[in-house]
Amino acid sequence: MQAKLIDGKALAAQVKAEAAAEAAALKAKGVTPCLAVVLVGEDPASQVYVRGKAKDCGECGIDSRVIRLPEATTQAELLALVAELAADRAVNGILVQLPLPAHIDEKAVIDAIPPEKDVDGFSPVNVGRMQIGEPCYLPCTPAGCVRMIESTGASIDGKHAVVIGRSNIVGKPAALLLLAKNATVTICHSHTANLKELCRSADILVAAVGKAGFVTGDMVKPGAVVIDVGINRGADGKLHGDVDFAAAAEKAAFITPVPGGVGPMTRAMLMKNTVQAAALQNGLA
Ligand code: GUN
Repeated sequence: MQAKLIDGKALAAQVKAEAAAEAAALKAKGVTPCLAVVLVGEDPASQVYVRGKAKDCGECGIDSRVIRLPEATTQAELLALVAELAADRAVNGILVQLPLPAHIDEKAVIDAIPPEKDVDGFSPVNVGRMQIGEPCYLPCTPAGCVRMIESTGASIDGKHAVVIGRSNIVGKPAALLLLAKNATVTICHSHTANLKELCRSADILVAAVGKAGFVTGDMVKPGAVVIDVGINRGADGKLHGDVDFAAAAEKAAFITPVPGGVGPMTRAMLMKNTVQAAALQNGLA
């Protein structure tokens, strides 16, 4: 392997230390940041993520309220809970873990979270603000990706960034954040004709496809920065990224591992957003 590893765990520890220091400063002024996390149903991956978020809160001096609801919860019941959390002045951030059970309309639930408590950065108001470069809560995964790229010291300005995937949660916002840093951005997706060639010209390659090993070594430009957003559970029970790590690491200058890359950074950025929400809501930003 010639690529240097971008250590998501180490960088996340640094970001969480920043959040903890900010939370302590708020506490000294009488404000303890609080994140409410709502989990509907029994999805095993979501259970792991929610436990992780509560643990991160504890480490950062942020209060957490985890509300677990049964799979059979109605949309009306969930909306009533979100309204209650929205009205609760002690709650600074509201995160409803996705995916929701099929009988609940995710959009209706996201729309019910007030933008000032939307620490996921998923609400249309925050998405719009991000698009026009106004202050907002940035979605945690793409914001974490940008921070990881910046941690390498490689410049983003003027570089060709290729994002594979166009989801609202990762692909589209990652492209926008890289554009805001003056990258020339290409978004690739399942209908892209010359995907391999485009990827081969990427100085920065962000893979958010959801298919294990989708990015092969021949798709990586020598010296590229490769960010692997994929979390795919293999038949072996292990987590695999979207990138063929061993082959890509032969070509790239920097690469993120899975696990231990984007995942921990996503969680750390949520802590930053929660502290920021507490500061903003109490006139202490
Ligand atoms: N499910 C997977 N990732 C996320 C995330 O970042 N936020 C929420 N709310 N649900 C998720």
